[in-house]
Amino acid sequence: TDFYAVIGNPISHTKSPLIHGLFAETTRQTMEYRAIEGSLDGFEADVLRFRQEGGLGMNITAPFKLRAFELSDGRSERARLARAANALKFEEGRIFAENFDGIGLLRDIEENLEEPLRNRRVLVLGAGGAVRGVLLPFLQAAPATLVIANRDITKAQTLLNEVKHPRLHVCSYADLAEQQFDIVVNATSASLTGQLPPIPEKVLQSISLAYELAYGKGLTPFLQLAKEKGVKRLADGVGMLVEQAAEAFAWWRGVRPETRPVIQRLTVALE
Ligand code: ATR
Repeated sequence: TDFYAVIGNPISHTKSPLIHGLFAETTRQTMEYRAIEGSLDGFEADVLRFRQEGGLGMNITAPFKLRAFELSDGRSERARLARAANALKFEEGRIFAENFDGIGLLRDIEENLEEPLRNRRVLVLGAGGAVRGVLLPFLQAAPATLVIANRDITKAQTLLNEVKHPRLHVCSYADLAEQQFDIVVNATSASLTGQLPPIPEKVLQSISLAYELAYGKGLTPFLQLAKEKGVKRLADGVGMLVEQAAEAFAWWRGVRPETRPVIQRLTVALE
């Protein structure tokens, strides 16, 4: 049997074994996918042990994405920009690193939610690891503008300096009051603690999609506010989770699974 796994800490709430199990079933792949709780001081040894035991690939989740990237010796461009890996492949004695978070989010927004980024004004809240992962795929989708807002503006500035793209801009939350957008993505970790990023309310007034990167949190303060402002489409990160999993699955197995039925199965109504 071909072995795969997701590794993180904590790991008990992971949906990845369910998702990859459904993918394997529908594409008729014989494989086994398990969840591993990585140890905080021995993550690298855990990965190498899994490979030693015959593992072919892993998904990486918090807090190990940076360490997985550092452990790898073959890196895609998007993994390099993110400086983080969310998937590894073990092949020919090497460890290849990929980061499918951005492409997963992009696919969910453009294909599942039917909101193409091309020529749209896109706002991303936050400038942490999650945002690093999505910048490159987002810019490749040719939005009219891509604005990053963050409390700590120097962090956003650093991202801008690394990417240097004519359509990429950064600003403070206060500066947002003067601007209009079509799509707003909350990529801060505020929702994990039930907080709302300090976004001027009117920014949400005329947008067509409010996307919350976190999932399984129901209607977060960000989505709640968007709903109150009459935003038609609200989404959380379940679709992104399934889409990035499909990318990893295709990278490992050479077949692309269907995502819609899996997303439907995992989606909890946002109310
Ligand atoms: P992740 O990997 O989830 O991106 P991270 O790298 O720790 O996590 O980044 C967390 C992001 O959420 C940062 O952009 C942080 O903003 P600051 O850099 O200004 O601290 C943002 N964040 C966390 N809590 C927030 C809150 N209550 N309001 C606004 N932004 C918040």
